[in-house]
Amino acid sequence: MKAAVTTRAGEPSVIELQELPIPEVKPGWVLIKVRAFGLNRSELFTRQGDSPNVKFPRIQGIECVGLVEDDPSITFKKGQKVAAIMGGMGRFFNGGYAEYTLVPLEIVFPFQSNLPWSTLGSIPEMFQTVSGSLNQALELKTGELLLIRGGTSSIGMLACQLAKTMGVVVISTTRNSNKEKALKDNGADYVLIDDGSVVQQLRELIPQGVHKVLELIGTRTLKDSLKCIAQKGVVCMTGILGSEWTMKSFTPMGDIHSLGRLTVYMGEAGNMNKNLLQDFIQAIEDGNIKLNIDKIFSLDQIVEAHQYMEGNHAKGKLVVEI
Ligand SMILES: NC(=O)c1ccc[n+]([C@@H]2O[C@H](COP(=O)([O-])OP(=O)(O)OC[C@H]3O[C@@H](n4cnc5c(N)ncnc54)[C@H](OP(=O)(O)O)[C@@H]3O)[C@@H](O)[C@H]2O)c1
Repeated sequence: MKAAVTTRAGEPSVIELQELPIPEVKPGWVLIKVRAFGLNRSELFTRQGDSPNVKFPRIQGIECVGLVEDDPSITFKKGQKVAAIMGGMGRFFNGGYAEYTLVPLEIVFPFQSNLPWSTLGSIPEMFQTVSGSLNQALELKTGELLLIRGGTSSIGMLACQLAKTMGVVVISTTRNSNKEKALKDNGADYVLIDDGSVVQQLRELIPQGVHKVLELIGTRTLKDSLKCIAQKGVVCMTGILGSEWTMKSFTPMGDIHSLGRLTVYMGEAGNMNKNLLQDFIQAIEDGNIKLNIDKIFSLDQIVEAHQYMEGNHAKGKLVVEI
C-alpha cells in the first residue's frame, strides 16, 4: 500500500510517501480501506515532535473514513462504511495517512451515507469535538449567548452552525477583518476582531456578558475569555490555536470571577455517540448543516497539505481523499 510516513520530527517535508505492506489483521482490530481523512492541528504538533511518547517513523492521522476490508470479530461486514477516530491512532499505532489502516474495534463507528468521501472525511473528529464541547462540556441551551474564540477555525465554524440549530446567539472572533463576511455567512450574529483582547468590545455589545465561551485559541486568550462571561457563565478550553500550552501565571481567585466556571474538553472516541454521528450525517444530507471544506488534497500532496495548514491559509477543514 501507499502510505505517508512521518520519518522524524520536523518540517512538513519529513513526511515521505512510501510503499509498505498492508497491515495484517489481528483479533480485536479492524482493517479499513481508507477513502478520506481530515487534517488536524494535533497532527501538526505531532509532526513537529510536540506529542509526548510518539515515536518516529509513524504513519500519522488521528481519524479516517473508509470501508471495512476485514474484521475478524465479524462485527462489521466487508464493505461497511465506517469512521475511525482517536484512541492512539496515528500516534501510538499507525493511523489514517495510508491506503489501509488497522485500528482497534472500539474506535470504529459504522454509518450509512451517499455523501462524497471528501465530505465524509471531514466529519468524524470535527463532529466529535464540537458536539462534545457544546453539549457535554458547555451544556449549551437554547436562548444562550455563545462566544466562539477562534471562530474561523473549522471547529469554530461548525460550532457556530450547530449552536445556531439550537437557537443560540453566536459571537465569533477572528484576527483578520477580511474573514468577517465568511463568519457572518456561516451564521454568526456578531463578529469581533480579536487583537488578543475582546472583552471591551464584548461588554459594549452585551454588557451582562455571555453565558458560554468556546475557547479555541487557548491559554493566550483564556483570561480575557473568563472576563467575558456573565455570572455563572462557563468557559470551555477546547483548542490551542495560539500554540501556548502553559500559562505564565494564573490566579484562580481573580482571573475567574466569583461563580464563574472553567472547564476543558479533550475528546476521545468514547465521547462520540454512534446515533449522534448518523444524525449529523443525515443533517448534512438534508442540507441543514453546511460543512466548510476549504481544500481537498490527494495523498501525494500530503506535504503541501501540512504546509497549507501550518501557514493558516484555511477557512475550513482540510481533507485528503484517497
Ligand atoms: N480538544 C479536542 O478534542 C480537539 C479536537 C480537535 C481539535 N482541537 C483543537 O481545536 C483548535 C481548532 O482546530 P481546527 O483544526 O479547527 O483549526 P484550523 O481550522 O486549522 O484553524 C485555523 C484558524 O486558526 C486561527 N489561528 C491560527 N493561529 C492562531 C493564533 N496564533 N492565534 C489566534 N488564532 C490563530 C486562524 O484564525 P484567524 O486568522 O481568522 O484569526 C485560522 O484561520 C485547535 O487548537 C485544535 O488543536 C481540539
